[in-house]
Amino acid sequence: MTTTTKKYSGTSRLIHWIMAVLILGMIVVGFLMVQDGWSRPVQNTMFISHKNIGVLLLILIFVRLFNRWRNPPNLAPVELDSMQEFAARIAHFGLYALLLVMPLAGYIRVRAGGFPIEALDALGMPTLVPRSEALAEAAKMVHFYGAYAITALVVMHIGAACFHGLVRKDGVFTRMWPPVGKGA
Ligand code: HEM
Ligand code: HEM
Repeated sequence: MTTTTKKYSGTSRLIHWIMAVLILGMIVVGFLMVQDGWSRPVQNTMFISHKNIGVLLLILIFVRLFNRWRNPPNLAPVELDSMQEFAARIAHFGLYALLLVMPLAGYIRVRAGGFPIEALDALGMPTLVPRSEALAEAAKMVHFYGAYAITALVVMHIGAACFHGLVRKDGVFTRMWPPVGKGA
C-alpha cells in the first residue's frame, strides 16, 4: 500500500526553495550584466557570480532530479480540474527542462568560447568542451532564447502559486511551503 502525503518531502522543499532564490537571482543578474554602462569591476563581478552560481545550479538540478526519481512525490489530491492539473504538469516539465538546458547551454557557451569559470578552474577541472566559435554561438542562442522562456514560465508559476496560496487557499501552496520543517 502506498501512503499519500500532504506536502512534498523536506528534501524536495529545501531544494526547491534554494533553487528558486538562486534562479531568480540568475535571471535578474543575467539580464542586467549584458546591459551597457556598468563599470568594469561591477560587470566582472556580475559575470563571475552568474557563471559560478550557474554551475552550482547545474549540480543542484542533477541532485534534484535524482532525489525526485528515487523518492517520487505521492501527494494527496487537492481539488483541481483536469485542465489545471494538465497545465501544472506541462509547466513543471518545462521548468525542469529549462533548469537543465540553461546551465548546460551557459557552460558550453563559455567553455567553447574559451572563457574561464573561476571556481572550476581553481579546482583544476578540465573544460570538457572543445574550443569552437560555432558551438559557442549555437549555445549562446539557446541560452538567449531559453532566458526568455524560463522567465515567462517562472512568472506564470509564481502567479499560479500566489493564486493558490492567497485566493483559493486550496492546499497547493502549502505542499511546497515551508522550505524547512513540517509547517502547518
Ligand atoms: C539556471 C541557470 C541560468 C540562468 C537562469 C541564466 C540566465 C541568463 C540570462 C537571463 C541571461 C541574459 C540573457 C542573454 O543575453 O543571454 C544570461 C546571459 C549569460 N549567461 Fe546565463 N543563466 C544560467 C546559467 C549560466 C551558466 C552556468 C553560465 C556559464 C557558466 C552562464 C553564462 C552566461 C553568459 C556568458 C551570458 C551573457 C550572454 C552570452 O554571452 O551568452 N549562464 N543568462
Ligand atoms: C523561481 C524559480 C522556480 C522554479 C524553477 C520552480 C520550479 C518548480 C517545479 C519544477 C515544481 C514541481 C515540483 C515537482 O512536482 O517535482 C515546483 C512546484 C511548486 N512551486 Fe516552484 N519554482 C520556482 C519558484 C517558486 C516560487 C517563487 C513559488 C511561490 C511563490 C513557488 C511555488 C511552488 C509551489 C506551491 C509548488 C507545488 C505545486 C504543486 O504541488 O502542484 N515556486 N516549482
